[in-house]
Amino acid sequence: MNTTDTARVAAAKEALKYVKSNYVIGVGTGSTAMIFLRELRNAISGGIISDVLLVPTSTETEIEIVNLGLAGLLRYPWQVDHIDVAVDGADEADRAKNLVKGGGAALTREKIIDYWAREFIVIIDEAKLVDKIPMKHPIPIEVLPFAWTIVKRRLEEEFRGKVELRFGSGKRGPIVTDNGNYILDYTPGTDIDPVIVEREIKGIPGVVEVGVFNGKKVSRLIIGKTDGSTIIL
Ligand code: 5RP
Repeated sequence: MNTTDTARVAAAKEALKYVKSNYVIGVGTGSTAMIFLRELRNAISGGIISDVLLVPTSTETEIEIVNLGLAGLLRYPWQVDHIDVAVDGADEADRAKNLVKGGGAALTREKIIDYWAREFIVIIDEAKLVDKIPMKHPIPIEVLPFAWTIVKRRLEEEFRGKVELRFGSGKRGPIVTDNGNYILDYTPGTDIDPVIVEREIKGIPGVVEVGVFNGKKVSRLIIGKTDGSTIIL
């Protein structure tokens, strides 16, 4: 296991302490969230946690839940009336717990589930803790395909900075999200106020969701360190 994995496993194990039997659990997307899911599977098969339901935030997570033998616990949002706890990763986080998410293009379903949860727990390795967001990653914005050039132009003209339509590997053309939309990656030209950016970009017609998550929605930010310890903000 490399040091990043050690840090992520430490954060995932810490997050597991906030999961109890009979909980409805929102399961995030990405490699760190998948480590959490495997830790959760081990706790279930070891009889430590029982009678939970799992609500995935992406097709990736849904497939992994099935692959881990947990298909019977899989539920969609319309099959549950609440989420007790959501555990998710992030691309970067600041000390006020504001996040950039959407590196895996799952930001919309993640925000729906994460913001809905009674407790929203974020797990990252220490390399993702930054002084100010966005630092190392652009802000992903999910847009209706019909509107992508219009939204791109408005972002460039009114919000300044650089906007790129996301292309991926294994497919020609733009990547298509689980919701059938495109992703614009926006790098602001100046420092941003995350709360204002989240609200104002969300207000542009054609924008489905913005990959800035408000720190006030995050109950705990668990930072795994390469020595296997954790810090909780
Ligand atoms: C997916 C996400 C992920 O949580 C984020 O990209 C972090 O992924 P990883 O744990 O693989 O670094 O927001 O849309």
